[in-house]
Amino acid sequence: MMSQAVDLIIYNARQLCTMPLQDNGPQRGHRLGDVGMIEAGAVAIHDGEIAGIGTSDEICSSFYSATVLDVTNLVVTPGLVDPHTHAIWAGDRAAEFERRIAGATYQQLMAEGGGINSTVRQTRAADLATLVDQAKPRLERMMQHGTTTVECKTGYGLETHTELNMLNAIAILDAEMPLDLIPTFLGAHAVPPEYKDDPNAYVNVLVREMIPAVGEWKAEHWPGILFCDVFCEEGAFSVEQSRRILEAGRMAGLGLKIHSDEFESLGGTRLAVELGATSADHLVATNDEEIALLGQSNTVAVSLPCTPFGLGHHHYSRAIDMLEAGVAVAIATDCNPGTAWCESMQFAMALATRYLRLTPAQALVCATVNAAFAIGRGGEVGTLAVGKPADLVIWEIDDYRHLGYRFGGNLAKTVIKHGRVVFEQ
Ligand code: NIG
Ligand code: FE
Repeated sequence: MMSQAVDLIIYNARQLCTMPLQDNGPQRGHRLGDVGMIEAGAVAIHDGEIAGIGTSDEICSSFYSATVLDVTNLVVTPGLVDPHTHAIWAGDRAAEFERRIAGATYQQLMAEGGGINSTVRQTRAADLATLVDQAKPRLERMMQHGTTTVECKTGYGLETHTELNMLNAIAILDAEMPLDLIPTFLGAHAVPPEYKDDPNAYVNVLVREMIPAVGEWKAEHWPGILFCDVFCEEGAFSVEQSRRILEAGRMAGLGLKIHSDEFESLGGTRLAVELGATSADHLVATNDEEIALLGQSNTVAVSLPCTPFGLGHHHYSRAIDMLEAGVAVAIATDCNPGTAWCESMQFAMALATRYLRLTPAQALVCATVNAAFAIGRGGEVGTLAVGKPADLVIWEIDDYRHLGYRFGGNLAKTVIKHGRVVFEQ
């Protein structure tokens, strides 16, 4: 039998975790946790895609390459997928952090005009080049920690010009960096100070001007999926306002997401299921009824354990109850300057094992195959199979459970995006 020439062969992996789909969809309920392990595994890569995957014997007899990587004793997984970040912003909120540790609450700071609106002031004052320059090292760190696909939200402009500037920053960073970015319009992140006394007037602006402008921006600049998101919360947007915003997003051809139950249970998760949103995110205060609804739906539940941790809170998403109800759960960093400045999905997995009580296998599913379904890229990224993009991480560990178990450092040895090494240590 003739063997096929490829660009790269990675072989002898102690554990190759392929992270399979289940029933062509995300892994859910009690079946969530299949890492699809191949021992002594190998991957053949050609033209940025996976040409073959199997045991080293199988791959080395079917393919040959001038470039081979022997990964004896190491673990290989898909590149991690971070399905919820606010990675584009200007400035910082270190002073607010000090006030919070001294006892001020996140909602108090928000009510005083700080919080999100403090980053809005700094972001409005920044030009496009500054936004790109400040976001780039964060995205770089994400990549160094094994993330190869990142969802990025706007939401620190809260007026058309700056919101579009944030989308432009995302498009520039996507083009300049090896990472794949998935943009989300979050003009409904907070009520901007100009509309403090009339939030519904801001909702009108969102629905009548900003969302249509984003639809036009997408038609001109972004062939891929672009989401519309809303912060449904006490002090931000009500369920009724959220419904108007998401329906306008759908009209403009955008995918739907929601921030719900971060602090209070308002009914945003029910709304997400009703509208067929791709994901509902945060889900700390979610009640039994809405957990059951999620379990019956295709809406992915994105838990953000770095956020309660970052706020010094002690309540996390009820992931075990969600699995009991058959929910497809994913995790993300929520990287943002207010509640969770964390670029590492490894750290999100470490928190998910302890506070969501997921096994390392479940946490890895939530950070790969299921995370991809939370951003409309299900079955394309976050899983290793023939024909998929060659996005993978070689880890400096000999048992995948060390992801989740160990924390505080970086266990990624080599990060490969579309078949190219983009980080090595
Ligand atoms: O996901 N909840 C709203 N948005 C962010 C916080 C953003 C900020 O404080 O700047 C979150 O926690
Ligand atoms: Fe968020």
